[in-house]
Amino acid sequence: MSEQQSPDAAAATTADREAERGLSRRGLMGLALGAGAAGVALGAGGGVIGGMALGRDQAQAATDAVAPASGIHQPGITTPVQDHLHFAAYDMMARTTRDDLAELLADWTYAATRMMQGLDVSATGAVGGSPEAPPDDTGEALGLPASNLTITFGFGPSLFDSRFGLEGQRPAGLERLPAFLGDDLDPLRSDGDLCIQACADDPQVAVHAIRNLSRIAFGRATIRWSQLGFGRTSKTTSEQATPRNLFGFKDGTANILADDTAALEENVWVSASEGPAWLAGGSYLVARRIAMLIETWDRTRLAEQDRVVGRDKAKGAPLSGGDEFTPPDFSATGPAGTPAIDARSHVRLAHPDNNGGIRILRRGYNFVDGTTDLGRLNAGLFFLSFQKSPASFITLQKALSTDAMGEYLRHVGSGLWAVPPAPAAGASVGAGLLGA
Ligand code: HEM
Repeated sequence: MSEQQSPDAAAATTADREAERGLSRRGLMGLALGAGAAGVALGAGGGVIGGMALGRDQAQAATDAVAPASGIHQPGITTPVQDHLHFAAYDMMARTTRDDLAELLADWTYAATRMMQGLDVSATGAVGGSPEAPPDDTGEALGLPASNLTITFGFGPSLFDSRFGLEGQRPAGLERLPAFLGDDLDPLRSDGDLCIQACADDPQVAVHAIRNLSRIAFGRATIRWSQLGFGRTSKTTSEQATPRNLFGFKDGTANILADDTAALEENVWVSASEGPAWLAGGSYLVARRIAMLIETWDRTRLAEQDRVVGRDKAKGAPLSGGDEFTPPDFSATGPAGTPAIDARSHVRLAHPDNNGGIRILRRGYNFVDGTTDLGRLNAGLFFLSFQKSPASFITLQKALSTDAMGEYLRHVGSGLWAVPPAPAAGASVGAGLLGA
């Protein structure tokens, strides 16, 4: 830590982590041993099983859905998209050091690993510590199951300035996204040294994760901005039904799916040869807070809505015909001889055929943040996408500069982060970058 104040939560987590490391190696085995109470064992799937007086209802957590580990990739990318999101961007505090950053990432990894198993952030958790000290865990997830929680960490371009000696490790494309036509960005909803995407089936579990990770960061990093999302606007498995966005259209039909390993390798994961080495197996995350002018859209004729999207609202089928999963035929014409899928439709402009084959993995969420000063819904789509290069998103967003949908949208927030691979067992996220 720097000379900044060391809050109880951060101190407790670091101490707790170190105590457990003393008992065994850091990680789940360490957690089970560290918990120490009777009846704690590791199940075949690696989950912590057994009733304990401390922490959350672990018997319930063990039987409830724990998002499957995704091997070398961080969870929360190809994981079946959960229904709720809490996303937060952070800035490192002034005068923090590279050691502070490494320690923060170690503390975050430790707490995140626990929370994704349905556990409190530390062994003493919400109610097992000293009555004279603030609890390590804030407690609002006590009794709630793991809820498929995934926690995904990203490193923004600004982390690679001169503060932490990481200038030489910055990937070539990791820069602030360029200004796009029609951008109306709020700096207070954009960028950040670090980001955390927490997704879960239960909104309280996602909020608990961000709240506790923010608390652990105290004295080292502060929240720059955050975003809640409800209702996924994509799918990442063929078993998931295609959800609808706030325009009422099916969204996610043509997304990259988790079992399409070839498409993932080609479009989402950074390969070892693409470098840098610390990012191999990782990806790049783009976030765009896109306000949707709902009231205007709701006064638009159905046929015009279909034309704008390029698909029909009922089935999500391309306007060239077929059903939802029929590939669009951009050469098809309507009765008047004009293109069946309009030249300025969203789907035509975003389609890989018109963008050199580029595809991205979309993982966005609906949001409604109350109403605006004008009494309109402050609503939209918190667009999240994972791609192997920032250039993929930039190409698509530029292609969408003539998008007919643009009339109903305003991009008000933006950010880009490099998402490192999953840490090796016992290591912290970003260990490859920091040499920790
Ligand atoms: C509020 C903003 C947006 C809305 C409401 C929206 C809505 C939709 C809808 C309804 C579809 C068709 C169904 C599907 O295949 O998923 C679609 C497809 C797509 N969108 Fe968006 N979108 C938005 C923003 C963006 C942005 C910012 C990008 C990237 C820069 C993007 C990229 C794509 C891509 C790549 C497809 C698939 C095209 C295809 O392969 O057919 N969208 N979007």
